[in-house]
Amino acid sequence: MTLAVIGGTGLYGLDGLQDVAEQRIPTPYTDQPVALSQGLLNGHPTLFLARHGTDHSVPPHRINYRANLWALHKAGADRIIAVAAVGGIAEDLAPGRLAFPDQLIDYTWGRISSFCDDAGQPVNHIDFTEPYSAEVRQQLCQAAEQAGVDARRNGCYAATQGPRLETAAEIRRLAGDGCQMVGMTGMPEAALARELELPYAACAVVANRAAGLDDGEALSMVQIRRNLETGMARVGRLLQAITAQASPAPPE
Ligand code: HPA
Repeated sequence: MTLAVIGGTGLYGLDGLQDVAEQRIPTPYTDQPVALSQGLLNGHPTLFLARHGTDHSVPPHRINYRANLWALHKAGADRIIAVAAVGGIAEDLAPGRLAFPDQLIDYTWGRISSFCDDAGQPVNHIDFTEPYSAEVRQQLCQAAEQAGVDARRNGCYAATQGPRLETAAEIRRLAGDGCQMVGMTGMPEAALARELELPYAACAVVANRAAGLDDGEALSMVQIRRNLETGMARVGRLLQAITAQASPAPPE
């Protein structure tokens, strides 16, 4: 059992990861191998991948999602928790709070969104009715309870193109579409995981109220970073609880 954690904005490594080995996994999707950390979290085999690179140099629309997912699969991941910063649309999604979405709407464009992208390859129409793994979401919910971390247990995630934040009108439209949170990296990541049959769930961290919802205040990157620090400390506690659930019992 190997847990993979994908870190987004504000999460570039895993506190408490022990016996760390840095891996560079070649993939068919880029000349550059994908960098992963492999180690033990609470004694549980765990992989970590920084989606934007450890120096946050890769914007959401330039992430090689296929290479990342392929590398995690190759390295032996059997489930993925994708940590992702979001803007809160629902009133209860205040900065710093966590949410485990159960649905998504994809508003991205121009991203390579399938492993079946090459001529002559058979097309695979995956079932994506429920885009997130019920089992991994359940583990997240249980861990939140154990760790005493307040989290919304559902919600629809809007995946937008970025890298700019949205306009107030775009957020009104997303709210009207039934979205409770908005981020830039949830797709095609979730669909690619499903193509590889890798159970995948998202742990969203609210970085800010979405555009236009905070009395028309402009969004400040400084404040967003501060909110993410609070949220990521909670993610750390959650991951400790998840790996404690999943770890083999210590020897007598
Ligand atoms: N919109 C989209 N993505 C985000 C936001 C937002 O407001 N905050 C953090 N990631």
